[in-house]
Amino acid sequence: MGIFITFEGIEGSGKSTQAKKLYDYFIKNSIKAHLTKEPGGTRIGQKIREILLSHWDEKFPPFAELLLYEADRNIHINNVIKPLLQQNYIVVCDRFYDSTTAYQHYARGIDYNLVELLNKTVTEGVKPDITFLLDLPVEEAFKRLNRQKDRLESEGLEFHKKVREGFLKIAEKERERFVVLDGLKNPDEIFEDIIAVLKEKKIL
Ligand code: TMP
Repeated sequence: MGIFITFEGIEGSGKSTQAKKLYDYFIKNSIKAHLTKEPGGTRIGQKIREILLSHWDEKFPPFAELLLYEADRNIHINNVIKPLLQQNYIVVCDRFYDSTTAYQHYARGIDYNLVELLNKTVTEGVKPDITFLLDLPVEEAFKRLNRQKDRLESEGLEFHKKVREGFLKIAEKERERFVVLDGLKNPDEIFEDIIAVLKEKKIL
């Protein structure tokens, strides 16, 4: 089996930058790796992503949102993540099921046990080996978002503060898997921290 590395954080935390840097590092060192993301890590998932992040003039109930994220994940697990892990790839994923716990449970308020049951069911036994959480205050992260905001980004500061707190609670619960990084540091410093952790954990 390969190694499954996930990146989590609020919008503007720099997680996508770090996921890409890590993937580039693996490729440069001739390590078999694949960079992917949720939602939208498959062609079907791209369509689901479009639905999830577009602005609609109809109601988008939280439960429907939850099910779409989980549908995207189940398709992703079956087409990309599981097959590549079976071929001993290192799979680097920008967001995974901790995002569902943070956004749909901690911020939207959907029942914790229901979210966890769906997370567990759709992932069919696949769990991240290590999860990097890029943490920083919401106000600082939002200063970095200078493009047009998508449906989730358009939620207020309070919503995103709940997401941040949610991520920190999950990290606290799963100390073995999580590495919390200071998202206020510059990207090169953060990347050095990531490499140091991977070496310490003998993943590199
Ligand atoms: P991003 O990948 O560009 O950050 O956009 C994905 C958005 O979807 C982001 O606002 C976080 C949100 N999201 C959830 O609400 N639940 C999930 O399970 C995932 C994967 C993402």
